[in-house]
Amino acid sequence: MEYEKIMDMAKRRGIFWQSAGIYKPVAGFYDYGHIGTLIKRRWENLWREFFLGLGDNYYEIQASVIMPEDVFRASGHLESFLDPVAKCGKCGNVERADHILEDLLKESFEGMAKAELTALIRKHNIKCEKCKGSLGDVEDRNLMFPVSIGTGKDKKSAYLTGETAQGAYVNFKLMFDVLRRRLPMGLAIVGKAFRHEISPRQALIRMREFTQAELQIFFDSDAINKHPRFDEVGSYKLRLHTTKNKSAGVEEMSCHDAVKGLHLPEFYVYHLARVQQFYLDVLAVPEKAFRLRELSAEEKAFYNKYHWDIQLNMESVGGWKEVGGVHYRADHDLKGHGEASGTAMAVNIEGKSVLPHVIEISMGVDRNVYALVELSYREEKERDVLAFPRKVAPFDAGIFPLVNKDGLEEKAREIYEFLRGEGFQVFFDSSGSIGRRYRRIDEVGVPAGITIDYDTLKDNDVTLRDRDSMKQVRVKIKDMPAVLRRFLGGESVSAFGEFIN
Ligand code: GLY
Repeated sequence: MEYEKIMDMAKRRGIFWQSAGIYKPVAGFYDYGHIGTLIKRRWENLWREFFLGLGDNYYEIQASVIMPEDVFRASGHLESFLDPVAKCGKCGNVERADHILEDLLKESFEGMAKAELTALIRKHNIKCEKCKGSLGDVEDRNLMFPVSIGTGKDKKSAYLTGETAQGAYVNFKLMFDVLRRRLPMGLAIVGKAFRHEISPRQALIRMREFTQAELQIFFDSDAINKHPRFDEVGSYKLRLHTTKNKSAGVEEMSCHDAVKGLHLPEFYVYHLARVQQFYLDVLAVPEKAFRLRELSAEEKAFYNKYHWDIQLNMESVGGWKEVGGVHYRADHDLKGHGEASGTAMAVNIEGKSVLPHVIEISMGVDRNVYALVELSYREEKERDVLAFPRKVAPFDAGIFPLVNKDGLEEKAREIYEFLRGEGFQVFFDSSGSIGRRYRRIDEVGVPAGITIDYDTLKDNDVTLRDRDSMKQVRVKIKDMPAVLRRFLGGESVSAFGEFIN
């Protein structure tokens, strides 16, 4: 699907668009409309349900997005959170050096050393895209957004956080005590992060302000070669793109084989498997659009010992794109914060002093929303559909009176209130022909349509229409909550009666 088409559709259907569009917008900032907000919230809730369910000591917390400079000096972000840039000697325009090369040569140059990037720019005689002037040697540019707090002698330097993860690390010690001193302990944050990207691009894929869903799992590194539930995933086949076998695209490998063949610890591989299950089983992403990509030593983030990206294949943005990652950060963060703050981060576990290590499951929520929109889009003969998995759709059902007279609207309102009271996300629409109303819910991916007609007044039945097959069955109003629950849980509409069309 074309990028322009997604952008146009996202705007027309209330999903997302560039921020502050009534002025001259600034690149890298996006707002969500009502439909986008509902999808995003549902995605986040599914993420919470799945990942907090991985451990009985895993909880969500909230942390400030502005933190003192000391935090980011200790985490290494001020020194090492860098992008390579090339500046035009004539007009001063600055571009990300690896992106200029990627655009030209259609391969990734992420993590390549500055000298090599400079050499490639020279070799291909690449000029400034704005004025065709000569580009200077590639330099580092820090991605952190500085802010200043207070005035006069009380003025303090601070930064907008570049990842939610730091909020979990600075709260580690307090939370460990509050949660009665057990490992593993999981701290999740779903919140905003900020990066001063040089060239934000591809809408929700590379933004300056964005939402992350991150889980930091603190554990005793002596236990890294075992996971108590590894047997549940041992023969599960991971979809991997390894640095050794790049030409393969995707290799299938069981978790057992990944531990042995790739020399990865069980504790890490277990979480790769759970991440893949979240995508394939919960979000219903097509298998062929998902892989886990190993990063080379040069590409890995500065804090990671093992680093695999979660990638989805999206045609509109040029193929495989990172939407998250599974990172073994070892003791990088707790050690850094311990030393810089003077707070002892080692904890006592049954008489043993342990400086916990961290496995981080990190996802970019906005990128995932973009991917869901692209991967769910279907163009059919008579309609366009966003075939979202039922649990991610913005609403569970649309409620439609066939006409707005003879008591049908009142009856439909009653059913709307009844289903809302039962906990469903429903919306009411009485304008336009019933065909147009079905098209409208298809376009934003609502899985069910419930129509109230003249027969409803006589027999208390409604029509339940399935978005994907467009098949319809009659269901008793009193049975609707149970039926809708089963339908949203994945059952086919044929389970609830004979088709009436
Ligand atoms: N916390 C990892 C990341 O931001 O990619």
